[in-house]
Amino acid sequence: MSRVYLRRARRPCKTTTIYQIYPRSFQDSNGDGIGDLHGILRRLDYLVELGIGTIWLSPIFRSPMADFGYDVSDHTDIEPLFGTLGDFDELLHAVHRRGLKLLLDLVPNHTSDLHPWFLESRSSRHNPKRDWYLWRDPGPNGGPPNNWLSEFGGSAWTFDRRTGQHYGHAFLAQQPDLNWRNAQVRGAVHDVMRFWLARGVDGFRVDAVGHLVKDEQFRDNPVNPEFRQHDPPSKRLLRLYNADLPQVHEMIAGLRSVVDEFPSRLLIGEVYLPFDRLSAYYGSELSGAHFPFNFALLSTAWNARAIAGLVDEYEAALPPGGWPNWVLGNHDKPRIAGRVGIDQARVAAMLLLTLRGTPTLYYGDEIAMPQVAIPAERVQDPFEKNVPGRGHGRDGARTPMQWNATPHAGFSEVEPWLPLADDFHSVNVANQRDDATSIYHLYRRLIATREARLSLQVGAYQPVVAGGDLLLFVRAHPRERTLIALNLGEEAAAVEFRAGRLAGRVLVSALGDRDGEAVDHSIDLRGNEGLLIELSAEADVPASVL
Ligand code: NOJ
Repeated sequence: MSRVYLRRARRPCKTTTIYQIYPRSFQDSNGDGIGDLHGILRRLDYLVELGIGTIWLSPIFRSPMADFGYDVSDHTDIEPLFGTLGDFDELLHAVHRRGLKLLLDLVPNHTSDLHPWFLESRSSRHNPKRDWYLWRDPGPNGGPPNNWLSEFGGSAWTFDRRTGQHYGHAFLAQQPDLNWRNAQVRGAVHDVMRFWLARGVDGFRVDAVGHLVKDEQFRDNPVNPEFRQHDPPSKRLLRLYNADLPQVHEMIAGLRSVVDEFPSRLLIGEVYLPFDRLSAYYGSELSGAHFPFNFALLSTAWNARAIAGLVDEYEAALPPGGWPNWVLGNHDKPRIAGRVGIDQARVAAMLLLTLRGTPTLYYGDEIAMPQVAIPAERVQDPFEKNVPGRGHGRDGARTPMQWNATPHAGFSEVEPWLPLADDFHSVNVANQRDDATSIYHLYRRLIATREARLSLQVGAYQPVVAGGDLLLFVRAHPRERTLIALNLGEEAAAVEFRAGRLAGRVLVSALGDRDGEAVDHSIDLRGNEGLLIELSAEADVPASVL
Protein backbone atom coordinates (compact mmCIF):
# COMPACT_ATOMS: atom_id res chain seq x y z
CA MET A 1 0.00 0.00 0.00
CA SER A 2 1.52 3.33 -0.95
CA ARG A 3 2.28 5.71 1.92
CA VAL A 4 0.40 8.56 0.31
CA TYR A 5 -2.83 7.01 1.57
CA LEU A 6 -1.72 6.81 5.16
CA ARG A 7 -2.60 9.42 7.74
CA ARG A 8 -3.23 13.12 7.52
CA ALA A 9 -3.03 15.81 10.17
CA ARG A 10 -5.99 16.17 12.57
CA ARG A 11 -8.50 18.65 11.35
CA PRO A 12 -12.20 19.42 11.82
CA CYS A 13 -14.59 16.59 10.86
CA LYS A 14 -16.44 18.78 8.42
CA THR A 15 -13.57 18.88 5.96
CA THR A 16 -13.12 15.09 5.99
CA THR A 17 -15.07 12.41 4.16
CA ILE A 18 -17.75 10.86 6.35
CA TYR A 19 -18.40 7.12 6.11
CA GLN A 20 -21.71 5.84 7.43
CA ILE A 21 -21.68 2.40 9.03
CA TYR A 22 -24.96 0.58 9.60
CA PRO A 23 -23.65 -1.46 12.54
CA ARG A 24 -25.92 -4.47 12.10
CA SER A 25 -24.47 -5.04 8.64
CA PHE A 26 -20.77 -4.14 8.71
CA GLN A 27 -18.97 -7.02 10.45
CA ASP A 28 -20.18 -9.74 12.80
CA SER A 29 -17.56 -10.85 15.32
CA ASN A 30 -19.51 -13.16 17.62
CA GLY A 31 -21.31 -15.44 15.19
CA ASP A 32 -24.90 -14.27 15.64
CA GLY A 33 -25.34 -13.02 12.07
CA ILE A 34 -25.54 -9.38 13.23
CA GLY A 35 -22.70 -6.89 13.04
CA ASP A 36 -21.18 -5.50 16.24
CA LEU A 37 -18.60 -3.12 17.69
CA HIS A 38 -15.76 -5.62 17.77
CA GLY A 39 -16.46 -6.31 14.12
CA ILE A 40 -16.11 -2.61 13.33
CA LEU A 41 -12.89 -2.50 15.33
CA ARG A 42 -11.52 -5.35 13.25
CA ARG A 43 -12.23 -3.41 10.05
CA LEU A 44 -10.83 -0.03 11.06
CA ASP A 45 -7.65 -0.44 9.05
CA TYR A 46 -9.78 -0.97 5.97
CA LEU A 47 -11.31 2.46 6.54
CA VAL A 48 -7.88 4.00 7.00
CA GLU A 49 -6.80 2.40 3.73
CA LEU A 50 -9.91 3.79 2.02
CA GLY A 51 -8.92 7.21 3.33
CA ILE A 52 -12.10 8.40 5.01
CA GLY A 53 -11.71 10.71 8.00
CA THR A 54 -14.91 10.35 10.01
CA ILE A 55 -17.12 7.39 10.85
CA TRP A 56 -20.79 7.86 11.62
CA LEU A 57 -22.45 4.92 13.36
CA SER A 58 -26.21 4.44 13.08
CA PRO A 59 -27.62 3.87 16.61
CA ILE A 60 -25.80 1.43 18.88
CA PHE A 61 -27.72 2.17 22.09
CA ARG A 62 -29.92 -0.29 23.97
CA SER A 63 -32.98 -0.96 21.89
CA PRO A 64 -35.77 -3.51 21.43
CA MET A 65 -34.96 -3.10 17.70
CA ALA A 66 -38.50 -2.36 16.54
CA ASP A 67 -36.81 0.13 14.17
CA PHE A 68 -33.33 -1.42 14.38
CA GLY A 69 -31.89 0.94 16.94
CA TYR A 70 -33.89 4.09 16.14
CA ASP A 71 -36.06 3.06 19.11
CA VAL A 72 -33.75 3.71 22.04
CA SER A 73 -34.58 2.23 25.46
CA ASP A 74 -31.40 3.40 27.22
CA HIS A 75 -29.43 6.30 25.78
CA THR A 76 -26.34 5.77 27.86
CA ASP A 77 -25.72 2.08 27.38
CA ILE A 78 -24.74 -0.04 24.40
CA GLU A 79 -27.18 -2.56 22.95
CA PRO A 80 -25.86 -6.01 24.01
CA LEU A 81 -26.17 -7.26 20.41
CA PHE A 82 -23.44 -4.75 19.56
CA GLY A 83 -21.28 -5.11 22.69
CA THR A 84 -20.67 -3.21 25.91
CA LEU A 85 -19.68 0.29 26.98
CA GLY A 86 -16.17 -1.11 27.43
CA ASP A 87 -16.20 -2.28 23.79
CA PHE A 88 -17.34 1.17 22.75
CA ASP A 89 -14.52 2.88 24.63
CA GLU A 90 -12.05 0.49 23.03
CA LEU A 91 -13.45 1.28 19.59
CA LEU A 92 -13.42 5.03 20.16
CA HIS A 93 -9.84 4.87 21.36
CA ALA A 94 -8.80 2.81 18.34
CA VAL A 95 -10.59 5.23 16.00
CA HIS A 96 -8.80 8.21 17.51
CA ARG A 97 -5.45 6.43 17.53
CA ARG A 98 -5.79 6.12 13.76
CA GLY A 99 -6.49 9.83 13.40
CA LEU A 100 -10.17 9.21 12.56
CA LYS A 101 -13.25 10.74 14.19
CA LEU A 102 -16.45 9.11 15.38
CA LEU A 103 -19.97 10.49 15.20
CA LEU A 104 -22.93 8.88 16.95
CA ASP A 105 -26.57 8.96 15.97
CA LEU A 106 -28.63 11.01 18.40
CA VAL A 107 -32.35 10.15 18.34
CA PRO A 108 -34.03 13.02 20.21
CA ASN A 109 -37.49 13.07 18.63
CA HIS A 110 -38.69 9.81 20.16
CA THR A 111 -37.70 6.94 22.41
CA SER A 112 -38.64 3.29 22.50
CA ASP A 113 -41.99 2.58 24.15
CA LEU A 114 -39.92 0.46 26.55
CA HIS A 115 -37.73 3.38 27.63
CA PRO A 116 -38.13 3.99 31.40
CA TRP A 117 -39.20 7.59 30.65
CA PHE A 118 -42.14 6.35 28.60
CA LEU A 119 -43.02 3.53 31.00
CA GLU A 120 -43.35 6.18 33.71
CA SER A 121 -45.18 8.59 31.46
CA ARG A 122 -47.80 6.07 30.42
CA SER A 123 -48.29 4.72 33.95
CA SER A 124 -50.72 7.46 35.02
CA ARG A 125 -52.04 10.85 33.96
CA HIS A 126 -50.47 12.26 37.11
CA ASN A 127 -47.02 10.85 36.68
CA PRO A 128 -44.36 13.61 36.79
CA LYS A 129 -43.16 12.45 33.36
CA ARG A 130 -46.65 12.49 31.82
CA ASP A 131 -45.85 15.72 29.98
CA TRP A 132 -42.56 14.31 28.60
CA TYR A 133 -44.53 12.76 25.73
CA LEU A 134 -47.49 13.90 23.61
CA TRP A 135 -50.65 12.72 25.37
CA ARG A 136 -54.06 13.83 24.03
CA ASP A 137 -57.67 12.95 24.64
CA PRO A 138 -59.48 11.08 21.86
CA GLY A 139 -61.04 13.19 19.10
CA PRO A 140 -64.76 14.08 19.16
CA ASN A 141 -65.73 10.79 17.45
CA GLY A 142 -63.65 8.76 19.91
CA GLY A 143 -60.84 8.27 17.37
CA PRO A 144 -57.38 9.84 17.20
CA PRO A 145 -56.99 13.46 18.38
CA ASN A 146 -56.25 14.70 14.85
CA ASN A 147 -55.43 13.49 11.34
CA TRP A 148 -51.62 13.36 11.61
CA LEU A 149 -50.03 10.37 9.91
CA SER A 150 -47.09 8.20 10.92
CA GLU A 151 -44.17 8.15 8.48
CA PHE A 152 -44.44 4.37 8.50
CA GLY A 153 -48.15 4.17 7.68
CA GLY A 154 -51.39 4.67 9.62
CA SER A 155 -52.27 7.23 12.25
CA ALA A 156 -49.59 9.06 14.21
CA TRP A 157 -51.62 8.31 17.37
CA THR A 158 -51.97 5.16 19.46
CA PHE A 159 -54.66 4.76 22.11
CA ASP A 160 -53.48 3.71 25.54
CA ARG A 161 -56.32 1.93 27.34
CA ARG A 162 -54.87 2.31 30.83
CA THR A 163 -55.13 6.08 30.95
CA GLY A 164 -57.69 6.61 28.18
CA GLN A 165 -55.52 8.90 26.06
CA HIS A 166 -53.59 8.69 22.80
CA TYR A 167 -49.85 9.23 22.48
CA GLY A 168 -48.25 10.72 19.39
CA HIS A 169 -45.56 9.12 17.25
CA ALA A 170 -44.11 10.40 14.00
CA PHE A 171 -42.81 6.88 13.29
CA LEU A 172 -43.83 3.51 14.81
CA ALA A 173 -46.20 3.10 17.75
CA GLN A 174 -43.12 1.65 19.49
CA GLN A 175 -41.42 5.07 19.02
CA PRO A 176 -43.44 7.57 21.09
CA ASP A 177 -42.49 11.21 20.44
CA LEU A 178 -40.95 13.24 23.22
CA ASN A 179 -42.47 16.62 24.05
CA TRP A 180 -39.73 19.11 23.19
CA ARG A 181 -41.76 22.00 24.59
CA ASN A 182 -41.01 20.51 28.04
CA ALA A 183 -37.77 21.93 29.48
CA GLN A 184 -37.04 18.74 31.45
CA VAL A 185 -37.05 16.74 28.22
CA ARG A 186 -34.60 19.15 26.65
CA GLY A 187 -32.38 18.96 29.74
CA ALA A 188 -32.48 15.15 29.76
CA VAL A 189 -31.45 14.88 26.10
CA HIS A 190 -28.74 17.49 26.62
CA ASP A 191 -27.37 15.34 29.42
CA VAL A 192 -27.33 12.32 27.12
CA MET A 193 -25.27 14.34 24.66
CA ARG A 194 -22.85 15.40 27.40
CA PHE A 195 -22.46 11.78 28.46
CA TRP A 196 -21.12 10.81 25.01
CA LEU A 197 -19.24 14.03 24.30
CA ALA A 198 -17.40 13.72 27.62
CA ARG A 199 -16.49 10.15 26.62
CA GLY A 200 -14.82 11.62 23.57
CA VAL A 201 -17.22 11.24 20.63
CA ASP A 202 -16.70 13.86 17.94
CA GLY A 203 -20.33 14.80 17.45
CA PHE A 204 -23.73 13.63 16.33
CA ARG A 205 -25.90 13.05 13.34
CA VAL A 206 -29.29 14.06 14.73
CA ASP A 207 -32.18 11.87 13.66
CA ALA A 208 -35.46 13.33 12.38
CA VAL A 209 -34.56 16.72 13.78
CA GLY A 210 -37.26 18.59 11.85
CA HIS A 211 -39.93 16.65 13.76
CA LEU A 212 -38.98 17.85 17.24
CA VAL A 213 -41.65 20.52 17.66
CA LYS A 214 -45.36 20.06 16.99
CA ASP A 215 -48.21 22.54 16.77
CA GLU A 216 -49.33 23.64 20.24
CA GLN A 217 -52.99 23.35 19.21
CA PHE A 218 -52.50 20.03 17.41
CA ARG A 219 -54.39 21.27 14.34
CA ASP A 220 -55.23 18.90 11.46
CA ASN A 221 -52.79 18.83 8.56
CA PRO A 222 -54.15 19.87 5.15
CA VAL A 223 -54.46 17.41 2.29
CA ASN A 224 -51.51 17.31 -0.11
CA PRO A 225 -52.87 18.09 -3.58
CA GLU A 226 -49.72 16.68 -5.17
CA PHE A 227 -49.96 13.25 -3.58
CA ARG A 228 -49.30 10.46 -6.08
CA GLN A 229 -50.25 6.81 -5.74
CA HIS A 230 -46.64 5.64 -5.35
CA ASP A 231 -45.74 8.10 -2.62
CA PRO A 232 -45.37 6.89 0.97
CA PRO A 233 -48.83 7.00 2.60
CA SER A 234 -47.83 9.78 5.02
CA LYS A 235 -47.48 12.11 2.04
CA ARG A 236 -51.30 12.23 1.70
CA LEU A 237 -51.15 15.20 4.03
CA LEU A 238 -48.82 18.18 4.10
CA ARG A 239 -46.78 18.16 7.31
CA LEU A 240 -47.82 21.68 8.16
CA TYR A 241 -48.42 21.23 11.88
CA ASN A 242 -46.16 18.35 12.86
CA ALA A 243 -42.77 19.09 11.25
CA ASP A 244 -40.48 21.97 10.33
CA LEU A 245 -42.15 24.41 12.72
CA PRO A 246 -40.31 27.72 13.34
CA GLN A 247 -39.66 26.84 17.01
CA VAL A 248 -37.59 23.82 15.99
CA HIS A 249 -34.66 26.15 15.40
CA GLU A 250 -34.54 27.15 19.07
CA MET A 251 -34.33 23.48 19.98
CA ILE A 252 -31.51 22.89 17.52
CA ALA A 253 -29.64 25.95 18.82
CA GLY A 254 -29.94 24.29 22.24
CA LEU A 255 -28.35 21.09 20.89
CA ARG A 256 -25.62 23.16 19.28
CA SER A 257 -24.81 24.95 22.55
CA VAL A 258 -24.27 21.60 24.21
CA VAL A 259 -21.98 20.43 21.41
CA ASP A 260 -20.08 23.73 21.68
CA GLU A 261 -19.37 23.08 25.37
CA PHE A 262 -16.73 20.70 23.97
CA PRO A 263 -14.00 21.71 21.51
CA SER A 264 -14.19 20.80 17.79
CA ARG A 265 -17.37 18.73 17.80
CA LEU A 266 -19.83 18.40 14.94
CA LEU A 267 -23.64 18.57 14.75
CA ILE A 268 -25.38 17.34 11.59
CA GLY A 269 -29.15 17.43 11.18
CA GLU A 270 -31.17 14.82 9.31
CA VAL A 271 -33.77 16.85 7.43
CA TYR A 272 -35.46 16.08 4.12
CA LEU A 273 -36.58 19.49 2.83
CA PRO A 274 -36.21 21.64 -0.25
CA PHE A 275 -33.11 23.85 -0.18
CA ASP A 276 -34.91 27.08 0.70
CA ARG A 277 -36.28 25.50 3.90
CA LEU A 278 -33.23 23.36 4.54
CA SER A 279 -30.97 26.38 4.81
CA ALA A 280 -32.85 27.54 7.93
CA TYR A 281 -31.33 24.54 9.76
CA TYR A 282 -27.98 26.32 9.88
CA GLY A 283 -29.78 28.56 12.37
CA SER A 284 -29.72 32.30 12.65
CA GLU A 285 -26.10 33.50 12.64
CA LEU A 286 -25.14 29.83 12.05
CA SER A 287 -26.30 28.88 15.57
CA GLY A 288 -27.96 25.64 14.40
CA ALA A 289 -26.51 22.49 12.90
CA HIS A 290 -23.01 22.78 11.40
CA PHE A 291 -24.92 21.51 8.41
CA PRO A 292 -28.22 19.80 7.66
CA PHE A 293 -27.66 16.81 5.40
CA ASN A 294 -28.16 17.60 1.72
CA PHE A 295 -29.97 14.56 0.30
CA ALA A 296 -30.67 16.00 -3.13
CA LEU A 297 -28.43 13.52 -4.98
CA LEU A 298 -30.48 10.64 -3.58
CA SER A 299 -33.49 11.51 -5.66
CA THR A 300 -32.33 13.70 -8.54
CA ALA A 301 -32.89 12.76 -12.16
CA TRP A 302 -29.48 11.51 -13.28
CA ASN A 303 -28.61 13.98 -16.01
CA ALA A 304 -26.21 16.88 -16.36
CA ARG A 305 -28.74 19.69 -16.37
CA ALA A 306 -30.67 18.39 -13.38
CA ILE A 307 -27.53 17.92 -11.32
CA ALA A 308 -25.98 21.25 -12.31
CA GLY A 309 -29.31 22.91 -11.51
CA LEU A 310 -29.30 21.31 -8.07
CA VAL A 311 -25.80 22.52 -7.33
CA ASP A 312 -26.65 26.07 -8.38
CA GLU A 313 -29.83 26.06 -6.36
CA TYR A 314 -28.06 24.67 -3.30
CA GLU A 315 -25.14 27.09 -3.51
CA ALA A 316 -27.61 29.98 -3.82
CA ALA A 317 -29.69 28.83 -0.86
CA LEU A 318 -26.79 28.39 1.58
CA PRO A 319 -26.67 31.09 4.24
CA PRO A 320 -23.52 33.25 4.31
CA GLY A 321 -20.75 31.13 5.79
CA GLY A 322 -22.92 27.98 5.71
CA TRP A 323 -20.79 24.91 5.01
CA PRO A 324 -22.19 22.65 2.26
CA ASN A 325 -22.35 18.86 2.11
CA TRP A 326 -23.51 16.07 -0.20
CA VAL A 327 -24.83 12.57 0.50
CA LEU A 328 -24.88 9.74 -2.03
CA GLY A 329 -26.49 6.97 -0.02
CA ASN A 330 -27.88 6.03 3.36
CA HIS A 331 -29.75 3.27 5.17
CA ASP A 332 -33.16 4.68 4.24
CA LYS A 333 -32.82 5.01 0.46
CA PRO A 334 -32.06 2.69 -2.47
CA ARG A 335 -28.36 2.20 -3.17
CA ILE A 336 -26.70 4.41 -5.76
CA ALA A 337 -25.44 1.47 -7.87
CA GLY A 338 -29.01 0.17 -8.06
CA ARG A 339 -30.36 3.57 -9.00
CA VAL A 340 -27.92 4.82 -11.62
CA GLY A 341 -26.28 1.54 -12.63
CA ILE A 342 -22.90 0.06 -11.96
CA ASP A 343 -21.06 2.15 -14.57
CA GLN A 344 -22.51 5.46 -13.49
CA ALA A 345 -21.74 4.57 -9.86
CA ARG A 346 -18.15 5.58 -10.71
CA VAL A 347 -19.27 8.91 -12.11
CA ALA A 348 -21.41 9.41 -9.00
CA ALA A 349 -18.34 8.77 -6.84
CA MET A 350 -16.43 11.41 -8.79
CA LEU A 351 -19.26 13.86 -8.29
CA LEU A 352 -19.61 13.20 -4.57
CA LEU A 353 -15.89 13.60 -3.91
CA THR A 354 -15.48 16.79 -5.95
CA LEU A 355 -18.50 18.91 -5.07
CA ARG A 356 -18.03 21.66 -2.53
CA GLY A 357 -18.54 20.53 1.07
CA THR A 358 -18.42 17.42 3.20
CA PRO A 359 -19.04 14.17 1.29
CA THR A 360 -20.94 11.39 3.09
CA LEU A 361 -20.41 7.92 1.78
CA TYR A 362 -22.59 4.93 2.73
CA TYR A 363 -20.82 1.66 3.61
CA GLY A 364 -20.46 -0.64 0.63
CA ASP A 365 -21.03 2.06 -1.98
CA GLU A 366 -17.25 2.15 -2.40
CA ILE A 367 -17.47 -1.33 -3.95
CA ALA A 368 -20.78 -0.55 -5.71
CA MET A 369 -22.83 -2.92 -3.59
CA PRO A 370 -26.17 -3.44 -5.29
CA GLN A 371 -29.69 -2.78 -4.08
CA VAL A 372 -30.80 -6.28 -3.04
CA ALA A 373 -34.29 -7.68 -3.71
CA ILE A 374 -35.49 -9.08 -0.37
CA PRO A 375 -37.80 -12.10 -0.50
CA ALA A 376 -41.04 -11.56 1.45
CA GLU A 377 -40.10 -14.12 4.11
CA ARG A 378 -36.81 -12.30 4.88
CA VAL A 379 -38.27 -8.80 5.26
CA GLN A 380 -37.14 -7.09 8.45
CA ASP A 381 -37.96 -3.42 7.93
CA PRO A 382 -41.08 -2.32 9.84
CA PHE A 383 -41.92 0.19 7.09
CA GLU A 384 -42.13 -2.63 4.53
CA LYS A 385 -44.12 -4.76 6.99
CA ASN A 386 -46.63 -1.94 7.56
CA VAL A 387 -46.92 -0.92 3.92
CA PRO A 388 -45.97 -4.07 1.98
CA GLY A 389 -45.23 -4.37 -1.70
CA ARG A 390 -45.06 -0.67 -2.56
CA GLY A 391 -41.30 -0.35 -2.76
CA HIS A 392 -40.82 1.56 0.50
CA GLY A 393 -38.79 -1.20 2.21
CA ARG A 394 -35.27 -0.25 3.31
CA ASP A 395 -33.75 -3.71 3.82
CA GLY A 396 -32.37 -3.84 0.28
CA ALA A 397 -29.88 -1.07 1.10
CA ARG A 398 -28.93 -2.58 4.48
CA THR A 399 -27.57 -5.98 3.44
CA PRO A 400 -24.28 -7.26 4.87
CA MET A 401 -20.99 -5.79 3.74
CA GLN A 402 -19.42 -7.91 1.01
CA TRP A 403 -15.87 -8.49 2.22
CA ASN A 404 -14.91 -11.59 0.26
CA ALA A 405 -16.22 -14.66 -1.58
CA THR A 406 -16.41 -17.05 1.41
CA PRO A 407 -19.88 -18.46 2.22
CA HIS A 408 -21.18 -15.46 4.20
CA ALA A 409 -19.03 -12.92 2.39
CA GLY A 410 -16.61 -12.57 5.30
CA PHE A 411 -19.36 -10.74 7.18
CA SER A 412 -20.26 -13.60 9.49
CA GLU A 413 -19.73 -17.28 10.19
CA VAL A 414 -23.49 -17.88 10.03
CA GLU A 415 -26.45 -16.86 7.90
CA PRO A 416 -26.72 -13.07 8.27
CA TRP A 417 -29.82 -11.26 9.52
CA LEU A 418 -30.51 -10.01 5.99
CA PRO A 419 -29.67 -11.94 2.82
CA LEU A 420 -26.45 -11.20 0.97
CA ALA A 421 -26.50 -9.84 -2.55
CA ASP A 422 -26.31 -12.60 -5.20
CA ASP A 423 -23.20 -10.99 -6.66
CA PHE A 424 -21.06 -11.09 -3.53
CA HIS A 425 -18.76 -13.74 -5.03
CA SER A 426 -17.54 -11.20 -7.55
CA VAL A 427 -18.42 -7.84 -5.99
CA ASN A 428 -16.42 -7.79 -2.77
CA VAL A 429 -13.58 -5.94 -1.09
CA ALA A 430 -11.01 -8.72 -1.54
CA ASN A 431 -11.51 -8.86 -5.31
CA GLN A 432 -11.56 -5.14 -5.75
CA ARG A 433 -8.43 -4.63 -3.70
CA ASP A 434 -6.61 -6.85 -6.19
CA ASP A 435 -7.94 -4.99 -9.20
CA ALA A 436 -6.42 -1.56 -9.82
CA THR A 437 -9.33 -0.69 -12.14
CA SER A 438 -12.03 -1.35 -9.50
CA ILE A 439 -14.42 1.26 -8.17
CA TYR A 440 -12.86 0.67 -4.73
CA HIS A 441 -9.51 1.94 -6.03
CA LEU A 442 -11.27 4.81 -7.74
CA TYR A 443 -12.74 5.82 -4.37
CA ARG A 444 -9.29 5.60 -2.78
CA ARG A 445 -7.75 7.78 -5.46
CA LEU A 446 -10.58 10.28 -5.24
CA ILE A 447 -10.41 10.57 -1.46
CA ALA A 448 -6.61 10.83 -1.50
CA THR A 449 -6.75 13.48 -4.24
CA ARG A 450 -9.35 15.42 -2.29
CA GLU A 451 -7.13 15.22 0.78
CA ALA A 452 -4.17 16.51 -1.18
CA ARG A 453 -5.84 19.40 -3.00
CA LEU A 454 -6.98 22.65 -1.46
CA SER A 455 -9.19 23.38 -4.45
CA LEU A 456 -11.23 20.24 -3.75
CA GLN A 457 -11.34 20.81 -0.03
CA VAL A 458 -12.19 24.48 0.15
CA GLY A 459 -12.14 25.87 -3.41
CA ALA A 460 -15.04 27.75 -4.99
CA TYR A 461 -17.43 25.94 -7.32
CA GLN A 462 -17.56 27.33 -10.86
CA PRO A 463 -19.98 25.79 -13.38
CA VAL A 464 -18.56 25.26 -16.88
CA VAL A 465 -20.78 22.93 -18.95
CA ALA A 466 -24.10 21.24 -18.26
CA GLY A 467 -25.55 19.92 -21.47
CA GLY A 468 -26.46 16.56 -22.94
CA ASP A 469 -24.60 14.03 -20.85
CA LEU A 470 -21.71 16.35 -20.04
CA LEU A 471 -21.17 17.99 -16.70
CA LEU A 472 -18.04 20.10 -16.25
CA PHE A 473 -17.13 22.35 -13.37
CA VAL A 474 -14.05 23.85 -11.80
CA ARG A 475 -13.07 23.92 -8.16
CA ALA A 476 -10.88 26.97 -7.77
CA HIS A 477 -8.51 28.01 -5.02
CA PRO A 478 -6.03 30.89 -5.34
CA ARG A 479 -3.20 28.32 -5.33
CA GLU A 480 -4.61 25.70 -7.74
CA ARG A 481 -7.62 24.69 -9.79
CA THR A 482 -9.21 21.33 -10.57
CA LEU A 483 -11.49 20.76 -13.55
CA ILE A 484 -14.00 17.96 -13.18
CA ALA A 485 -15.42 16.48 -16.40
CA LEU A 486 -18.15 13.85 -16.15
CA ASN A 487 -19.99 11.90 -18.81
CA LEU A 488 -23.37 10.91 -17.45
CA GLY A 489 -24.23 8.79 -20.46
CA GLU A 490 -23.07 5.62 -22.22
CA GLU A 491 -21.92 7.29 -25.44
CA ALA A 492 -18.57 8.94 -25.91
CA ALA A 493 -18.66 12.74 -25.69
CA ALA A 494 -16.20 15.58 -26.15
CA VAL A 495 -15.84 19.29 -25.37
CA GLU A 496 -13.63 21.54 -27.49
CA PHE A 497 -12.11 24.66 -25.97
CA ARG A 498 -10.76 27.60 -27.93
CA ALA A 499 -7.06 27.35 -28.74
CA GLY A 500 -4.85 28.03 -25.77
CA ARG A 501 -7.64 28.01 -23.22
CA LEU A 502 -7.29 24.53 -21.80
CA ALA A 503 -4.08 23.09 -20.41
CA GLY A 504 -3.62 20.53 -17.72
CA ARG A 505 -3.06 16.96 -16.70
CA VAL A 506 -5.39 14.14 -15.66
CA LEU A 507 -5.20 13.46 -11.93
CA VAL A 508 -7.85 10.77 -11.69
CA SER A 509 -9.75 8.93 -14.40
CA ALA A 510 -12.79 6.76 -13.78
CA LEU A 511 -11.08 3.58 -14.98
CA GLY A 512 -7.61 4.53 -13.78
CA ASP A 513 -6.05 4.22 -17.22
CA ARG A 514 -5.63 7.89 -18.13
CA ASP A 515 -4.03 9.26 -14.98
CA GLY A 516 -1.15 11.57 -15.86
CA GLU A 517 -2.39 12.17 -19.44
CA ALA A 518 -1.80 15.70 -20.75
CA VAL A 519 -4.91 17.71 -21.66
CA ASP A 520 -5.09 20.59 -24.13
CA HIS A 521 -7.88 22.18 -26.18
CA SER A 522 -10.35 19.27 -25.91
CA ILE A 523 -11.64 16.78 -23.41
CA ASP A 524 -12.68 13.43 -24.80
CA LEU A 525 -14.67 11.17 -22.57
CA ARG A 526 -15.65 7.59 -23.17
CA GLY A 527 -19.15 6.53 -22.12
CA ASN A 528 -19.56 6.61 -18.32
CA GLU A 529 -16.18 8.22 -17.95
CA GLY A 530 -15.10 11.03 -15.67
CA LEU A 531 -11.81 12.87 -15.28
CA LEU A 532 -10.30 15.10 -12.63
CA ILE A 533 -7.90 17.46 -14.33
CA GLU A 534 -5.30 19.63 -12.70
CA LEU A 535 -5.47 22.92 -14.62
CA SER A 536 -2.21 24.62 -15.47
CA ALA A 537 -1.76 28.18 -14.28
CA GLU A 538 -2.22 29.54 -17.82
CA ALA A 539 -5.48 27.66 -18.52
CA ASP A 540 -8.42 30.01 -19.01
CA VAL A 541 -11.52 27.82 -18.80
CA PRO A 542 -14.53 30.05 -19.31
CA ALA A 543 -17.44 29.90 -16.90
CA SER A 544 -20.53 28.33 -18.47
CA VAL A 545 -19.36 27.74 -22.04
CA LEU A 546 -22.68 26.18 -23.04
C1 NOJ B 1 -34.63 8.47 10.26
C2 NOJ B 1 -33.74 7.26 10.27
O1 NOJ B 1 -32.71 7.44 9.34
C3 NOJ B 1 -34.62 6.09 9.97
O2 NOJ B 1 -33.87 4.92 9.70
C4 NOJ B 1 -35.55 5.88 11.13
O3 NOJ B 1 -36.44 4.84 10.84
C5 NOJ B 1 -36.34 7.17 11.41
N1 NOJ B 1 -35.56 8.36 11.35
C6 NOJ B 1 -36.97 7.10 12.78
O4 NOJ B 1 -35.99 7.23 13.77
